Amino acid sequence: MTETSRPKMTVPAVLARKNGGEPLAMVTAYDATFASIVDAAGADMILVGDSVASVMQGARTTLGVSMEQMEYHVSMVAAARPRALIVGDLPFGSYQTGPRDAVTNSVRLVKAGAEAVKLEGGVTVAESIAAIVRADIPVVGHVGLTPQSYHRMGGNKIQGRTSGDTAGSRERLLDDAHAVDQAGACALVIEGVPAELAAEITDKVSIPTIGIGAGGSCDGQVLVLHDLLGLTPKSPSFAKAYVDLRSAAIDAVRAYVGDVHGRAWPDEEHTIR
Ligand code: KIV
Repeated sequence: MTETSRPKMTVPAVLARKNGGEPLAMVTAYDATFASIVDAAGADMILVGDSVASVMQGARTTLGVSMEQMEYHVSMVAAARPRALIVGDLPFGSYQTGPRDAVTNSVRLVKAGAEAVKLEGGVTVAESIAAIVRADIPVVGHVGLTPQSYHRMGGNKIQGRTSGDTAGSRERLLDDAHAVDQAGACALVIEGVPAELAAEITDKVSIPTIGIGAGGSCDGQVLVLHDLLGLTPKSPSFAKAYVDLRSAAIDAVRAYVGDVHGRAWPDEEHTIR
């Protein structure tokens, strides 16, 4: 199907991909140029992730991203008018303070162009998810390795390897996924957990799961675009670079610098007479 002929991705269409449908392909994007590339490639969902912190802002964690910054990036992606569903990430601090802030800040992302919002956590944010859903804003949950819990996890560490009901343990993650599902979310990102646990969660929840570092049993997959394109110097072990654009970009800029230094640029073809 060509880019223009494929139908606009909607929340009901996402829900319909649970169990047995074609897996959902989600990719991040943070601006109009890259959103148009992701959309032309046929992605089902574009995540305007708070991974913008590491990918574009050079930050170590996602904790410093502001609401204003997320609104700006969501609006740039929305300007590309993608067929893919636009999911805007709620940044750290915009919903942890309770359902009222969660709804207010979700409304801000929708006004900027998001068609759904994503937030991290399970049991502890279920009330906020339900409040956002009551405001008619679709919510994507996110459990497992949740980068906004950086300090609690002691870094971006794989979760679900221990038993028990403390945050990040196997049973607690099952409870978290159940809570997100029950609260009315339309999809659930599962990040950085053993494949067997992601498969069990996928089996138990009624909504599509979208995995990253969570094995092949999820109802969909997500990658950070700059990892996929080989633009990030250091990416997680569970991310795959499908091309080495960083090397290609360095080679291209180096060729230009060499041409300038050698007075070979501009050439005759690009000179105005
Ligand atoms: O912010 C982000 O890009 C994410 C994905 C890694 C799921 O949350």
